[in-house]
Amino acid sequence: MDSTMKQDAIRPAEFPSGVKLSPGNGGLPKLQISCPQAEGEIYLHGAHLTSWKPAGARDVLWVSQKSMWESGKPIRGGVPICFPWFGPKKDDPSAPIHGFVRLREWRLDGVTTEQDAIVVALSLNGDDSTKRWWPHDFRARMRVAFGSRLIMSLEVENSGDAAFSFEEALHTYFGVADVRQIEIPALDGHDYIDKADRLAEKKQQGAVRISAETDRVYLNAVKPVEIRDPAMHRRIRVTKQNSNETVVWNPWVAKAKAMPDFGDDEWIGMICVEACNALSSSVQLAPSALHTMTAIVEQH
Ligand code: BG6
Repeated sequence: MDSTMKQDAIRPAEFPSGVKLSPGNGGLPKLQISCPQAEGEIYLHGAHLTSWKPAGARDVLWVSQKSMWESGKPIRGGVPICFPWFGPKKDDPSAPIHGFVRLREWRLDGVTTEQDAIVVALSLNGDDSTKRWWPHDFRARMRVAFGSRLIMSLEVENSGDAAFSFEEALHTYFGVADVRQIEIPALDGHDYIDKADRLAEKKQQGAVRISAETDRVYLNAVKPVEIRDPAMHRRIRVTKQNSNETVVWNPWVAKAKAMPDFGDDEWIGMICVEACNALSSSVQLAPSALHTMTAIVEQH
């Protein structure tokens, strides 16, 4: 179909079996997925994934018990989509952190069965309300394949007549047994910007281990990374396409306490490892051009 044509969101009668749309937390519409390879959940609010359980495994994603579930507020955990900026907006501190698309309800475009997965497609177009924050015409599409692997693709199209640049992240919260015991060896040797230390540029020495507030943007980090979680007997592997940076975030004690939508002790059980293009890797997009960033998650 011509992507410029207006189309209606698909209706539940068109869903494959194993897919259900119902009110989730806070009454927000939630799609539940069940197929032999996996179970999962995604909210239309923010096109926000909140659960992916490969068959026989526990949930790979983490969601806070204290999350707010309200239109206009971000969900704490799962996979918030950050776009069109990452962190605070540089020229407007009053703008929402990590952009506005995680605060909006997306349109459900399709749910299909493909090979060994159920695939959900959602979209959000720029409109007058998004232009309040960002003056560009865009179409964002999120495609999630729930299978024995989780495949998330965020596609951005410039539907206006002037070039623009943007930042983006698939801000994935993973569940771990104890963040103080995990390691992420593949980031060894990478330069990073330390957001927990005045944006100092540093070099990673050895595997990433978490022993304090950690908020880092690893630069030129394109190779797969593995989160080794010995206490859970699990390894989570994240493979990326068209993402130059990997963000690693854990708020640790004080920041967790300061966040109203984050339990005081919950920092122990989570780590964010995010496919990202920000800072000097912002994406430049000419009119009609498309950019797709993908993160593939596997666990064993
Ligand atoms: C991380 C950022 O990706 O997200 C951190 O690097 C930020 O600086 C964190 O604190 C959480 O952001 P938010 O807006 O969801 O609380």
